[in-house]
Amino acid sequence: MRIDIITVLPEMLEQTLNCSILKRAQDKGLVEIKLHNLRDYSLDEKHKRVDDYPFGGSAGMVLQCEPVDRAISSLKEQRIYDEIIYTSPDGEQFNQPMANQLSLCENLIILCGHYKGIDYRIREFLITKEISIGDYVLTGGELAAAVMADAIVRVIPGAIGDEQSALSDSFQDNLLAPPVYTRPAEYKGMKVPEVLLSGHQAKIQAWELEQSIERTKRLRPDLL
Ligand code: ADE
Repeated sequence: MRIDIITVLPEMLEQTLNCSILKRAQDKGLVEIKLHNLRDYSLDEKHKRVDDYPFGGSAGMVLQCEPVDRAISSLKEQRIYDEIIYTSPDGEQFNQPMANQLSLCENLIILCGHYKGIDYRIREFLITKEISIGDYVLTGGELAAAVMADAIVRVIPGAIGDEQSALSDSFQDNLLAPPVYTRPAEYKGMKVPEVLLSGHQAKIQAWELEQSIERTKRLRPDLL
């Protein structure tokens, strides 16, 4: 899989996307994540400007069609993209089923929104999907792109060590994950539930399911 991220702030994403599991997945060849600086596609040789004042006189700056179109067109000349995603609080709310589905794609572009927005013609004619990571407004789409890339990559088979563990995450079956514990079995008088020390797999699984259902009912009844 390949994810191309177009942004005016590549430095904001460089570290985040080259750490831990995302780095390992790239080193293993499971995914290629490429950052593209939108300014490299500016026609303004001197200042590399990519934004301009909005028609109509409202406040803030708007990303121009031209550099965005040039960036997307240059990528589309090289391969076929399954989706061209724009990060925006107006978009469809990102969730686990969406991450799973996008992880099956061959090639994705994520265009990070910025400033007051982007010339609407890009959204109408080039973008295939608009995604929001929640009902709040971020300063730009970079953090949203990082959240999406992380959630997408970690469900690619082989990305996390234990293949089972991505599937047993919270949300994968619309249930929150059960509690987990590690040694010591007793800490400051607080004991790990007895069943987890029993070695009885069937009983452990039944307990975990019961805990998942109880936690979901209590904490996220909307998921049931
Ligand atoms: N850009 C600004 N706010 C955003 C959000 N909530 N989700 C995705 N992109 C955004």
